Amino acid sequence: MTRLKYDYSYAREFITDTEWNDAVGRASEAHDTLYARTGAGNEYLGWLDLPEKAQELLPQINEAAKRIQDQSNTLVVCGIGGSYLGARAVIEACALPFQRPAVDIVYAGHQIDGRYFAQMLSYLEGGHFSVNVISKSGTTTEPGIAFRILRNFMDEMYGSMKARERIYATTDESKGALRTLANQEGYETFVIPDDVGGRFSVLTPVGLLPIAAAGINVEALLAGALDMRERVREANAESNPAFAYAAVRNALYQKGMKVEVLAAFQSALHYVTEWWKQLYGESEGKEGKGLFPAAVVDTTDLHSMGQYIQEGERMLLETFMTVDEIQLDVIVDASENSADGLDYLQGKTFAEVNAQAHAATALAHKEGGVPNGTITLPSLSPYAIGELLYFFEYAVAISGYAMGVNPFNQPGVEAYKQNMFALLDKPGFEDQHKEITAKLDSTAKHIIE
Ligand code: PA5
Repeated sequence: MTRLKYDYSYAREFITDTEWNDAVGRASEAHDTLYARTGAGNEYLGWLDLPEKAQELLPQINEAAKRIQDQSNTLVVCGIGGSYLGARAVIEACALPFQRPAVDIVYAGHQIDGRYFAQMLSYLEGGHFSVNVISKSGTTTEPGIAFRILRNFMDEMYGSMKARERIYATTDESKGALRTLANQEGYETFVIPDDVGGRFSVLTPVGLLPIAAAGINVEALLAGALDMRERVREANAESNPAFAYAAVRNALYQKGMKVEVLAAFQSALHYVTEWWKQLYGESEGKEGKGLFPAAVVDTTDLHSMGQYIQEGERMLLETFMTVDEIQLDVIVDASENSADGLDYLQGKTFAEVNAQAHAATALAHKEGGVPNGTITLPSLSPYAIGELLYFFEYAVAISGYAMGVNPFNQPGVEAYKQNMFALLDKPGFEDQHKEITAKLDSTAKHIIE
């Protein structure tokens, strides 16, 4: 069976043996800390065992997924950040584009965009829908206000008793406003374990329920993650691909690479890059440290970002994601009129052309001074995506510890919320309201209208 591969040849060339040995040493220490469960944030290591532990949830998840498919043609997944990106990453990677899925998934509560929301409600009116509202804290503003509107809308559409049967709440076992609401209204609920942080929660019901409802095989997803869990047990840069990835990042970060570009060579992986940005940005970006996680989809973005990556400031490292076996493909046809100058590609599949585009890009970027590595997935199957998710989760834990930060907290995400609550007159923020408005007034000095 083919498995995920990591090739870091074009990164290793930029790292001296001493630098490499030092980075491997730091990564080894981080690995030991992770498994000894003695590092910062060790109360959030529940994700390590999810590929196995989540198995016991599958009967309830598959049963609820089936019910959603029977009762609705659309499922609204209402959550933000770690409470929606994992599901979206897996669904968009595994589902075939333009194919009508078991249930169409639409997203809400992941932003504050009234235009989007209003239009989504009109769209929902045309069919039948269920809602999976997801929030670990149960108090996040974006999904909170979206869910309030959705509840009222469902009450009007179905009547409050029937509406409740279409609402599935994924939240904390006992705390938070969503838990209170779910208990009062009698929604079916799924629990987000205390020891799993939002961005590591894709293999809890947070991700598994919407993924199963979309008709994707969650057993296979967990099996892939389980396989990767076994592969990352040893701190060995020869056999553990995620360990090598963490060591490469660490060595290059120490040499001044401040930005990592994750470049997907399959557009289906776009939301994996979105999920990865949160995972890496929130885990490493603190205390003035951290590689900034940026992402592109190639070859599309080679025509927009390619210039910078090739010749801009040399502070980048790049990680490509490619896929070995593509389920569906097309062949470049013969043409009676060959004025387009493309006869040399005749008979080649898009996968073949794309593979050469990747090889050409990796070489060109390396020669342009961008160290790079490539993660190759055997396919876009749920199994392969499960491997990839666990690969990235393990690597960021090692990478964060090796960098000297707590990879499992996110204190910085609170700052804007405090200001926003004050500006929006949330009870309890009265004093801050004056302070923040005064700050806004006194700093608004350079406005051109
Ligand atoms: O990683 C995090 O903690 C955040 O991005 C959360 O996932 C996000 O804010 C959603 O939080 P919650 O699930 O509590 O609504």
